[in-house]
Amino acid sequence: MSVYQRVLSGIRPTGHIHLGNYLGAIHNWVRMAKNTKEQLFCIVDQHALTTVDDSKNLSDNTRTIAAAYIACGIDPNKSAIFAQSHVPAHTELGWYLNCFAPLGWLNRMTQFKDKAGKNSDRANLGLYAYPVLMAADILIYKATHVPVGEDQKQHVELARDLAGVFNNHANYDVFPLPEPIIPKETARIMSLRDGLSKMSKSDLSDYSRIHLLDDSDTIALKIRKAKTDSDSIPGTPKELEGRPEASNLLGIYAALSDQTIETLCVRFEGQTFSSVKQALTDILISSLTPIREKMLHLLQNPDELDKILYKGAETANSLAEQNLKEVRNALGLLPRIDQLRKV
Ligand code: AMP
Ligand code: TRP
Repeated sequence: MSVYQRVLSGIRPTGHIHLGNYLGAIHNWVRMAKNTKEQLFCIVDQHALTTVDDSKNLSDNTRTIAAAYIACGIDPNKSAIFAQSHVPAHTELGWYLNCFAPLGWLNRMTQFKDKAGKNSDRANLGLYAYPVLMAADILIYKATHVPVGEDQKQHVELARDLAGVFNNHANYDVFPLPEPIIPKETARIMSLRDGLSKMSKSDLSDYSRIHLLDDSDTIALKIRKAKTDSDSIPGTPKELEGRPEASNLLGIYAALSDQTIETLCVRFEGQTFSSVKQALTDILISSLTPIREKMLHLLQNPDELDKILYKGAETANSLAEQNLKEVRNALGLLPRIDQLRKV
């Protein structure tokens, strides 16, 4: 029996897709697949519009993320892979949920505070309302599980809360309460330049992250330049406390090799970081090369990728429209004419 009924997740088509997206999100989606009944993976292009600087080359970036999903092991014949903007029900439900979302809840969202910076008066309304649209992305499919990195936990909790207030208003459970699924070891992959900041697409330095499209020489160079400290590798994970860069590099190695940090401490105890960096470079190259090659191959044929996205949108639209009809009904809106005809 499936453990997960309906899984949904998404990535913004902004900047370079990186190792944090892979280990924090997509790798987990692939691992969950065998226990999942239905899966939907969205490329959230309308979210990209909230940070206008990032929204250049949206259509190419959308195809790149689709290629990454497939190259990392998501099977488009078993999961719907689609662009958010191809399913208008997301924004329609987003509006309805806006009308239930207290400002106090939105004011607590830490990602808005980080992204808006000091001058929040100049931030756009879309950026502020982003978590509500994300809740709609999830709830429009009545998704039960949402696999994401740690930074998205607060947003999935908001989606749960909004599902709760909506259900209360409707007087029955229209939406299941979605659960975040956050990988324990790889919830937060850190920057290669600063072990206290998250690896992110928006970091100005390319050396802060490994891109899924980096070639072997670039990976080797980025790991060589990665920040470390001058101590050797300790015998136990406990002794890594207060050494964020060391913990991060060993954590990446552990995730890619499917070993625990304990095992790695025993293996590398007393050695310097240069030997760990060599081993890490090797495993990154052997793990990411097949992904890069498959992505490049898929990207050579954009029409085929578009076909996959259109097919995914068809599946997504039919689920979403059915649920939207129920939502409209629960809100007491007059049925649309196309819905009357179907009755
Ligand atoms: P984004 O790049 O912000 O669209 O993130 C897409 C997915 O990758 C989300 O589930 C994030 O939580 C996850 N993610 C992004 N950066 C990291 C990171 N540094 N470590 C772990 N997960 C991440
Ligand atoms: N907000 C997520 C991020 O920045 C992306 C996202 C949008 C998402 N909608 C979603 C993730 C729905 C999971 C489910 O990473």
